[in-house]
Amino acid sequence: MLDETILKNHGQEHLLEYCKLMSQSEKEQLELDINRLDLDEIDALYKEVYLNRKPIEVAEDVEQVNYDKKENLDDKTLKEYKSLGINAIKEGKFAVLLMAGGQGTRLGHKGPKGTFTFNDKSLFERQAEQLRQLVEETGTPIHWYIMTSDVNHKDTLAYFLEKNYFDYDESYIHFFKQDHIVALTTEGKLILDTDKHIMHTPNGNGGVFKSLENNKILSEIKELGIEYLFLNNIDNALVKVLDPEFVGYTVEHNADVTTKSIQAHPGEKVGRLVSIDGKKQVLEYSELSSEDVDRLQNANIGIHVFKVDFLIESASKALPYHLAIKKLKQLDEDFSVVEVESLKFELFYFDIFQYAQSFSTLQVDRNKEFSPLKNKEGQDSIETAKRDLEINHLL
Ligand code: UD1
Repeated sequence: MLDETILKNHGQEHLLEYCKLMSQSEKEQLELDINRLDLDEIDALYKEVYLNRKPIEVAEDVEQVNYDKKENLDDKTLKEYKSLGINAIKEGKFAVLLMAGGQGTRLGHKGPKGTFTFNDKSLFERQAEQLRQLVEETGTPIHWYIMTSDVNHKDTLAYFLEKNYFDYDESYIHFFKQDHIVALTTEGKLILDTDKHIMHTPNGNGGVFKSLENNKILSEIKELGIEYLFLNNIDNALVKVLDPEFVGYTVEHNADVTTKSIQAHPGEKVGRLVSIDGKKQVLEYSELSSEDVDRLQNANIGIHVFKVDFLIESASKALPYHLAIKKLKQLDEDFSVVEVESLKFELFYFDIFQYAQSFSTLQVDRNKEFSPLKNKEGQDSIETAKRDLEINHLL
């Protein structure tokens, strides 16, 4: 039985109305769903992240993070970085983590974003291929951790199986799911998804650290002697996964966090790598004034290396939730499927930067290393990614 008083106390009595339309087993399922929730926590989240949200404050005194420009490094240095990098990979000091839990709806592609293909080669395959080559070159297996979410976990696993893991040693590919969090109406009410469950959505890519911890991956990689975790997004068509030069740069600088960046175009919708009171962070373009968007050109492309010890220390530290208001498919009170603007709560992985004691950044050539696949058409689209793959002879 649903506890009426508890639901009323939390403003969730609409669920009792839903119950009237449910079969016995559906009711029992709903009760189970609700019993798993911490309603006090949800109240607090709604209050803090939505009701008490402040208009986006344009941060003042924002400095760029210091960075090295790869184009200023001479051939000798680059060669040294490369050989340092290859050696570190050979010694098994690096593992790779791919964040692939996002939905990719903006792209209009059905299925996990990583299954999107250019000339029959998917984004997953492009990344697997690079790792396979590195394994061949170094003679050392590389553990590949792939973060999925409830939205795409099954499909991702099925896809890898169907493609025979792209001939990558299957025992070195580890899938794990990120966590999920309830979505709410703008009135703070819990929502029913089309399966009549309480709606949960992936908790943002910043969920990666707790999921690594909960799945005991951090302790496992520490035991394996892995010292660094290379992380990248699924949707950069030009990503150089575990690029040996960058690996060497990382080992040489040995910072808690090492980042690749690009020089942003004026007004470009990418996060900016900044330092506020000495603490490193990424501010999305929407959090900056248009002058700052153009002044701060050192931009985030979602390629980082974390020291494993740093992650072990920081993974359980608090990260803030960010609000996203999105149209979500859900059931209305008559159980018709409707799409309504609703509240999603997301953690961002780069909020962990604030805990880093040291931070290094290498700015690379965007034309060779960054072509994000975000939209169906226009900027950062299928067309632009295809063009960039062609220019780089990758198609
Ligand atoms: C992201 C960065 C932005 C950067 C841009 C470069 C964040 C929050 N912002 O923006 O600073 O300039 O990439 O392309 O990262 N993902 C999950 N689980 C989730 C949500 C996302 O695994 O719950 C993964 C996606 O699959 C993708 C990556 O995280 O691989 C980036 O997420 P996305 O939501 O696409 O961020 P962007 O808006 O593209």
